[in-house]
Amino acid sequence: MPVYRFYHQTSRWMSKNGNKEYLAALGYSAGEIDGILKAFPSGIYTPVSELKMLGPVGLNSLVEAVRLEIASKNQRPRSPVFVNIKLPGKASMLKIQALEGDTFYDLVQSHHELNRYLECACKGIAACSTCHVIVDPAFASRLPKPEESEADMIDLAWGATDTSRLGCQIHITKEVDGIVVTIPEQSNNLFGK
Ligand code: FES
Repeated sequence: MPVYRFYHQTSRWMSKNGNKEYLAALGYSAGEIDGILKAFPSGIYTPVSELKMLGPVGLNSLVEAVRLEIASKNQRPRSPVFVNIKLPGKASMLKIQALEGDTFYDLVQSHHELNRYLECACKGIAACSTCHVIVDPAFASRLPKPEESEADMIDLAWGATDTSRLGCQIHITKEVDGIVVTIPEQSNNLFGK
């Protein structure tokens, strides 16, 4: 019997000051947005007005630097790590070989069968909760604690538990090799249009 996931638009949610949505609307990827915000002293709290003060030329220069940093990271050899995913309504687990540093958003890009279960509506900027996963308690404490913006979004996720995380914010490392996560049967899509 097929399992249906339901997507509810319950409210418009904005990240801290709407800065991530602003950068996403300019066409930057989740990784680029993270890098851009990290370049500011206020990090994820950087107001849009501060981003705008850079002007198009300043922002482009910053993005180029961020892209170079991402490219250099991607050239480093990455070890395989294994991920086990309990899918709604399925008895057996989906086992995936990921690469160190991948997030569950990356896995959705490379394993299209996951699309049905993890919509990733905001493309990995922690603004929708459709990548919500519940981490097996044996692995949850091995992950870095969620940042405030992630924790805020988890509070709004469907069926959240103490070990809930946004899949797009989990960087799979050797410390969590063999991680087990459960995808809830439903999800809330809080990404404003
Ligand atoms: S993909 Fe939207 S919160 Fe993770």
